[in-house]
Amino acid sequence: MNVSPMIDPNAAPAPSDRRIIAVASGKGGVGKTWLAITLAQTLARQGRRTLLFDGDLGLANVDIQLGLMPDTDLQSVFSGQMALTDVIQTHEPTGFDIIAGRSGAGGLARLPIERLDALGERLVNLAPAYDHVLIDLGAGIETTVRRLVRPAGTVLVVTNEEPTSLTDAYAFIKLTVRDQPATDIRIVVNMAPSKGAGEHAYRTLVKACENFLKFTPKLAGIVRRDARVPDCIRHQMPLLSRFPNCEAAEDVAAIVQGLSDPP
Ligand SMILES: Nc1ncnc2c1ncn2[C@@H]1O[C@H](COP(=O)(O)OP(=O)(O)OP(=O)(O)O)[C@@H](O)[C@H]1O
Ligand SMILES: [Mg+2]
Repeated sequence: MNVSPMIDPNAAPAPSDRRIIAVASGKGGVGKTWLAITLAQTLARQGRRTLLFDGDLGLANVDIQLGLMPDTDLQSVFSGQMALTDVIQTHEPTGFDIIAGRSGAGGLARLPIERLDALGERLVNLAPAYDHVLIDLGAGIETTVRRLVRPAGTVLVVTNEEPTSLTDAYAFIKLTVRDQPATDIRIVVNMAPSKGAGEHAYRTLVKACENFLKFTPKLAGIVRRDARVPDCIRHQMPLLSRFPNCEAAEDVAAIVQGLSDPP
């Protein structure tokens, strides 16, 4: 972890649109997709116009977690058949809009940078129609994943308390600080056995960021491990539709509350 920050002179221009929120992690399986869906549902319940974009281009699974069979998806956009606005679908039970991906679409996972940037631009153009645009990213730190962070003014880096997850979150933060120094990077500790354990994981990650990057990412929130989360995913139902008052729902509501805090 002993790498000092290098500010790239060709870094992306400062994304000013904090309406656009990327959900990232580094390590896979830490709960990005679930969190992005639950944030979207929480925001929609508060009457905010919300778009959830499935940015996990290779292994899209927003539709799977929600039990949807989308008529159209990003594949139609990239094959030139449809515009991005044409593939927006409203998830009627929750009220937020979705741009679904196509799981197993190998071609989408290998899009060249120019096409990723063009996609990002189109998302930026869509943002004024919404109060919030959430981007659920794939795992990893490859350029194809990180390029979709560029349109975002806020990045929620999700980790759990395991050392591998913390290390990968650190790697993601390091690259984002280098490429997009003005982006508001915040940490979510998910699946925490307790609030205290989550705070300990956050402090561990912040210590590495401060020591090696001279950067202190804020805590967006701690989401406790809650057995109702996998239960809902098994039933392909969003959390708040079944357990609106459970611990994980309460914790996501607190994250939403803090989103408007200044960076
Ligand atoms: N707060 C939580 N409590 C309990 N289980 C959770 C919680 N958050 C997520 N999970 C579990 O973690 C699993 C992985 O979640 P999810 O698919 O959203 O992760 P991901 O980071 O999007 O994965 P990938 O990197 O593959 O895209 C879920 O199936 C769910 O069972
Ligand atoms: Mg996912």
